[in-house]
Amino acid sequence: MLGVKVCVLAFVLVVSFCCFFTLLVSANTTNPSEVNALRAIKRSLIDPMNYLDNWSEGDPCSSHWNGVLCYNTVGEDGYMHVEQLLLPDMNLSGYLAPEIGRLSNLTVVNFMWNNITGSIPKEIGTISTIRLVLLNGNKLSGSLPDEIGHLPHLDRLQVDQNQLSGPIPKSFSNLIGTRHLHLNNNSFSGQIPPELSKLPKILHCVLDNNNLSGYLPPELCNMPSLRIIQLDNNHFDGAEIPASYGNMSKLFKLSLRNCGLQGSIPDLSGMKSLHYLDLSWNNLTGSIPSNRLSIHIRTIDLSNNHLTGSIPANFSDLPKLQNLSLANNLLSGSISSTIWQNMTFGPTARLTLDFENNSLSNILGDCNPPANVSIRLHGNPLCKNASQANIAYFCGYEVGANNASSNSINQSSVCLIQSCPTDSYEYVPESPVQCFCAAPLHIDYRLKSPSFSYFPPYEDQFEMYLASSLNLDHYQIFVHFSFWEPGPRLRMDLRIFPMYPSNIFNTSEVLRVRHKFMTWEFPTDNFFGPYDLLNFTLLSPYSNVVFESSQSSGISNVALTGIVLGSVACVVSITGLFAILIIRRQATSYHHLSRKRRASSSLIKIDGVKDFTLKEMALATDKFSDSSQVGQGGYGKVYKGILPDKTIVAIKRAQEGSLQGQKEFLTEIEFLSRLHHRNLVSLLGYCDEEGEQMLIYEYMPNGTLRDWLSAKSKDSLSFVTRLHIALGSAKGILYLHTEADPPIFHRDIKASNILLDSKLNAKVADFGLSRLAPVPNDEGTLPDHVSTVVKGTPGYLDPEYFLTHALTAKSDVYSLGVVFLQLLTGMQAITHGKNIVREVNMAYKSGIVFSIIDNQMGSYSSECVEKFLALALRCCQDETDKRPSMSDVVRELENILSMTSESDISLPDSTATHPESLTPSSSSAHVPKYVSYDVSGSDLVSGVIPSIAPR
Ligand SMILES: *[C@@H]1O[C@H](CO)[C@@H](O)[C@H](O)[C@H]1NC(C)=O
Ligand SMILES: *[C@@H]1O[C@H](CO)[C@@H](O)[C@H](O)[C@H]1NC(C)=O
Ligand SMILES: *[C@@H]1O[C@H](CO)[C@@H](O)[C@H](O)[C@H]1NC(C)=O
Ligand SMILES: *[C@@H]1O[C@H](CO)[C@@H](O)[C@H](O)[C@H]1NC(C)=O
Ligand SMILES: *[C@@H]1O[C@H](CO)[C@@H](O)[C@H](O)[C@H]1NC(C)=O
Repeated sequence: MLGVKVCVLAFVLVVSFCCFFTLLVSANTTNPSEVNALRAIKRSLIDPMNYLDNWSEGDPCSSHWNGVLCYNTVGEDGYMHVEQLLLPDMNLSGYLAPEIGRLSNLTVVNFMWNNITGSIPKEIGTISTIRLVLLNGNKLSGSLPDEIGHLPHLDRLQVDQNQLSGPIPKSFSNLIGTRHLHLNNNSFSGQIPPELSKLPKILHCVLDNNNLSGYLPPELCNMPSLRIIQLDNNHFDGAEIPASYGNMSKLFKLSLRNCGLQGSIPDLSGMKSLHYLDLSWNNLTGSIPSNRLSIHIRTIDLSNNHLTGSIPANFSDLPKLQNLSLANNLLSGSISSTIWQNMTFGPTARLTLDFENNSLSNILGDCNPPANVSIRLHGNPLCKNASQANIAYFCGYEVGANNASSNSINQSSVCLIQSCPTDSYEYVPESPVQCFCAAPLHIDYRLKSPSFSYFPPYEDQFEMYLASSLNLDHYQIFVHFSFWEPGPRLRMDLRIFPMYPSNIFNTSEVLRVRHKFMTWEFPTDNFFGPYDLLNFTLLSPYSNVVFESSQSSGISNVALTGIVLGSVACVVSITGLFAILIIRRQATSYHHLSRKRRASSSLIKIDGVKDFTLKEMALATDKFSDSSQVGQGGYGKVYKGILPDKTIVAIKRAQEGSLQGQKEFLTEIEFLSRLHHRNLVSLLGYCDEEGEQMLIYEYMPNGTLRDWLSAKSKDSLSFVTRLHIALGSAKGILYLHTEADPPIFHRDIKASNILLDSKLNAKVADFGLSRLAPVPNDEGTLPDHVSTVVKGTPGYLDPEYFLTHALTAKSDVYSLGVVFLQLLTGMQAITHGKNIVREVNMAYKSGIVFSIIDNQMGSYSSECVEKFLALALRCCQDETDKRPSMSDVVRELENILSMTSESDISLPDSTATHPESLTPSSSSAHVPKYVSYDVSGSDLVSGVIPSIAPR
């Protein structure tokens, strides 16, 4: 009886186990046809950084790089299906394989910011589930496939910044679900199909910088949802602005700059929501209509036309106006001061009135505008007989950009005594808790078509908008700096901080935020307009965040779930038994494996470096005890070790995430072993055993330069020693740039990577982030940069590199310049959220630079300090071209050093001996908010002459 029961039970268990197992296998397996399609896609792409190597053959979506390559979803056939292809910004070239059409459950296609060529495969148009097509920022050519017009769920089509040509397909009139059409910066030609006016959902229609021609379809006024239309720099030669546009009561932005338009400006009084009107650089004639304009209007640009008559009264009483440009027209009569008189200006408000080069004869009323108003009058008759001093002032060439005061945040100056624990942490500028340090996410972000001209008054509102879209608190979002690009588009460096009291985001939160940005899941805001995500950089401490691909969008197969749940209970016991058996077996085979691995590694002999065993390393470090740990870097922990022959070494032990494949690891060792220079820390050996990887370096008894410069340091370095350290570092890096073969860029120069030996000689360390520099191609020419994913340490990052990803030898020059500034001032690269380069520049310009020179460095010649400082600041220029080369740096430092030995070391300047008598720059009343670059109004660039010359 008992035997039967056991038998039945066993039978049931075995059956359900098999059932469960089969389903489990198919549920975890990608549909074979899609696997083939993915292989074809991978084959057609050139992947210089080998990101797609992680896209393993069998189960493409199961593995990952520092970004999600694809997400899976379970389809009705029980197989996994690729749901999202996310391959932005990976320096991919090659073309897009038509097999993409076989990914039948795809909703997101994201290949933004690569170098992909060829045409857009028409097969994309057969994937009916697609919501987002994001192909912007590539080199795609050919025309838009008609098939795309038949995607019923397409929400967003972004193909901007490519080389696409041909017409906008008429089939697009079927895109009934599409809200965003971004085709700008291509070569599309022909007529805008009037049929588009039938589209019920289009919100943002961004078609600027193309070769569109024909007429402007008057029917567009019927598009029920349209809020932004941007057609700048197209060729509608001779076309007129349809009168019907004047009654688009919901439109926020109408931008028709440089479109070859003729005729007169229609009555726009029906545009009740208009925020932004740009009709500049056309051939518009007649007078400016005097009907009332929208009270929301921020920008009116009618410059560079042939407008006649006088300036109408309707420009008065526009409470939100920021920019009115009527320059380069044929306007006559007078300017009424009522334009600015009835306005109330907030502290950050600004109004620019540009009337240059007209025939205006005088100003009616009071012409003492408030400081927030700048007026440009140059080139008008009224300037000839300008009696009033004010008018003469406004008639000058360089009026405007008057220093509107920015709101200053003094949070950081309160925190002077402490500092954030590492370079990756910053004071959260708007934190409700003072001196709260946290590690932000860095996002390179661009507003493609904002409806304002001057950002400061809306910065807060913008931060709040992002905060609520991301479910974060206002203080967690921070616009670190912003500037205008042609378009005008507003580029910004956004910081997103974790919520107090945690000072670091956990992985799932990073993923959540990144996902929101990458899939455009923000509520639409017509005032800020659409955005470009240029980079979602994960700097340390997030650089090792590994994106789990297991975020499948839920199991759709309900039956599967049921069976799985039912089986699980029964199977657990059996599986448990099996598991124990399997684990036992594995434990034994593990040893075989590691022994095998060892055997193969010793086959490769690397000259000059020793292959240490794990046992030797454990012995040297007292089993990697805490007391022998001397540091912690991005690569892993650093230990001080004593070898049997009493040699002291530094052992860098790779942590999870830094481990490489054995082949890559040995290749790297082989390469590092060939680098020898007295200013580089030498590699003595390595260890690659039992899943551990270690690099063994000579030990630097005097630690890092960072320690010496920190406030905690008891001893201080003299000025001459500092110069020697600067020169040594520069020479080490110069060797990497010029003598190493192939040359390398260090990419992570910082005070903690400059080590000092027993005689305080500087040695550059940590090539962990080094990348091979570009090598000459067949023609022998060097590509002048390597485009990569941004890595490095905040505060030392070349700003141009950060924005362009173009890594040059000058990026190292910049970082070294920051180290020089640290040598001079004793400050950290970023203290209290303040950037050393900006602080020193500011002090330098205000002539109080000696007040920030480190008073720990004893006596020095002020001439030498000045020269060193000037060199450091040149290294830290924003523009790459203005920085000296590394060999110039070495030469100049040698010069300065020779001066110190010739001249007696004189006493410092009297200003320097009493630094406390001077206002330290950090608390100076004139220091603007450190966070905003001089954010000039967009008018400064919107006037940039477009590539298509005005006719
Ligand atoms: C688009 O094209 C214009 C004109 O060629 C150029 O000034 C602008 O920088 C381009 N914008 C982008 C985002 O590429
Ligand atoms: C622009 O389109 C016109 C035809 O409308 C064509 O003749 C011209 O070559 C195109 N220009 C460019 C630069 O594509
Ligand atoms: C818009 O204006 C045009 C011409 O002024 C007129 O024919 C048309 O009926 C108007 N449409 C609406 C919806 O008011
Ligand atoms: C400016 O304001 C005053 C009073 O506030 C008003 O009488 C005047 O009409 C306004 N001017 C204009 C141009 O609206
Ligand atoms: C990026 O791609 C281009 C074109 O394929 C290539 O020349 C360049 O070397 C790549 N950069 C890196 C860092 O691989």
